[in-house]
Amino acid sequence: MSLKGKCCVVGVCGGIAAYKVVDVVSRLKKLDAEVDVIMTASAQEFVTALTFRSITHRPVITDMFGEPEEWDVRHISLAQKADLFLIAPATANIIGKLASGIADDMLSTTVMATKAPVLIVPAMNYNMYANPIVQQNIEKLKKLGYYFMEPDTGRMAEGTSGKGRLPEPPVIVEEVCAMLKPTRDLEGLSILVTAGPTREALDPVRYLSNHSSGKMGYAVSQAAVERGADVILVSGPVAIDKPMGVEYIQVTSADEMYDAVMKNFKDCDAVVMSAAVADYKAAEVSDLKIKKQGDDFSVQLVKNVDILKELGRIKEDKILAGFAAETDNLLENAAKKIKEKNLDIIVANDVTMEGAGFGTDTNIIKILRKDGSVTDFPLMSKLSAAHCILDEIVGIYKSK
Ligand code: PMT
Repeated sequence: MSLKGKCCVVGVCGGIAAYKVVDVVSRLKKLDAEVDVIMTASAQEFVTALTFRSITHRPVITDMFGEPEEWDVRHISLAQKADLFLIAPATANIIGKLASGIADDMLSTTVMATKAPVLIVPAMNYNMYANPIVQQNIEKLKKLGYYFMEPDTGRMAEGTSGKGRLPEPPVIVEEVCAMLKPTRDLEGLSILVTAGPTREALDPVRYLSNHSSGKMGYAVSQAAVERGADVILVSGPVAIDKPMGVEYIQVTSADEMYDAVMKNFKDCDAVVMSAAVADYKAAEVSDLKIKKQGDDFSVQLVKNVDILKELGRIKEDKILAGFAAETDNLLENAAKKIKEKNLDIIVANDVTMEGAGFGTDTNIIKILRKDGSVTDFPLMSKLSAAHCILDEIVGIYKSK
């Protein structure tokens, strides 16, 4: 991938993870992006401006009132030329300032003046990150259209472990690439995406379900909207915000998902079935709460409809992409499903691998095609994985 012609402004804040952003900037430069760096005063306590200047071959902005190299108002000109604004590591301080509309240094004024998408990558002590004030500020900014990556969980500089580490530089760069993806190659296409788990009721208070968070399917929807598609997102119950620009249909059970998918199938060009649909449901749903009885308890289950298999039966010239969440024999199981369900591609993810599968912001996928060929992808954000899946769909569409 080349980022030639794209300008990424990187705002570096004061945190030990600032050293990792040197690598991020270096990787962006290797992809031919034009990179301008703004450092806060505290960032300069961790890394020097010279380090970034040596990599970017451009002046690094450290001071609101310094002598400009060129005669322009720097925070306005950078705000205007940015195709993407990346803030990493984003401290509780910058997140709080942006959420409160405070613009008192070069970084906060430039972000405030930009119309480019802003990707914020927090990194801080895990107690600070979990602090409700920080979380409320993040939620507020998300609602205003700012993009966030979640911090990694692991050992922190102070020696303890928790959620607050800056994601690894390749993962941040993948996200930047995905957001800068220029193409509108899905314009005119209608894509139906399913996401999240289904819930199969046992009684009024209990259900069977799985760990799907909806992140993978929501990323596919977001990427498809960015690339110009009309997107219908049929979602099971999840706790994440719906992507902007989709037609959204909320469902609970597999039967409801089946109805919503079937109703919209005839008007779409492609389906991406990333939902984790329950294979079984209770044979009978009790009207009343089931009371505690003896030491053992069993429930009679019956098979749910296989939505994707049904679509495979009536597919005609539509493109069908399935997912296979596997814990063993990944490729064999996925290959079996591609045949059984008459799919064009299946996206296989080994859900036992760290950084892949349920609930994570990243995934490790393999795309299998019906001719038996397979492409392996490295660990990447779910948004980047979504773009890889859509690249494949565009390829199939063009070859028809
Ligand atoms: O939501 P996240 O937390 O981001 O996690 C993402 C994910 C792991 C859920 C996702 O990447 C994934 O793998 N989704 C499919 C999970 C799954 O149900 O796999 P499966 O092997 O059981 O089903 C194969 C395919 O048939 C899937 O496309 C599924 O949507 C579809 N299916 C399955 C059963 C059924 N009754 N009807 C279906 O349509």
